[in-house]
Amino acid sequence: MPTPDALAFDVYGTLVDPIGVAVELERFAGAASRRVAELWRQHQLEYTFRLSVMERYQDFEWVTHRSLHQALALAGIELAAGEVDELMASYDRLQRFDDVAEGLDLLREAGHSLAILSNGSPAMLERLVLEAGLRPPIEEVVSVDEVGVYKPSPRVYRHAAERLRRPVEEVRLISSNPFDIIGAEAVGMRTAWIDRSGAAVFDTLGEPPRVVVRSLVELARELA
Ligand code: 2OP
Repeated sequence: MPTPDALAFDVYGTLVDPIGVAVELERFAGAASRRVAELWRQHQLEYTFRLSVMERYQDFEWVTHRSLHQALALAGIELAAGEVDELMASYDRLQRFDDVAEGLDLLREAGHSLAILSNGSPAMLERLVLEAGLRPPIEEVVSVDEVGVYKPSPRVYRHAAERLRRPVEEVRLISSNPFDIIGAEAVGMRTAWIDRSGAAVFDTLGEPPRVVVRSLVELARELA
């Protein structure tokens, strides 16, 4: 039995589905709702990368709000302030992927310690963890807000290892986002890519990790 890892889970795209906001967007965007949800997520991540390179930190609540406005503007949709607030609130109620509850329980039962490592702001993550019923089994919640820079900065992963009181080599980053996997491996973390889309297309900036699975249940089997 290998030593149980400290598992650090990415949140948006890995534990919950950010594209799920398309359901809430339908009232305002109709048939364009999925396109607006994708534009929102695309600009949300782009803004985190740009703010980090500019060394100008704003928290993920600010980034999520600004990227929503950008997505709506690109789709030619004008909303009242109250409607924007409703969409922002829906971000706290994103649905867990179907395999998450069972997968986390299996991994906990196998002796792994479970943590979150996310771009989310502490307030967003606390609300989401509560709403999605993720704690327990999640024990620790680490937000990039603690270091004031976004993934894939090496400072994020090194800080997470310190917070989890483990050498970086004993932390395994679990993510569906290839940029996150590549960033964690760059500092020496182990990783597992959750290929949620099933497209099996990783990223040309780095090699796919040794552990590639489609769900957290499969991950539990793979790590056993
Ligand atoms: C997260 O950090 C990358 O947005 C994703 O949860």
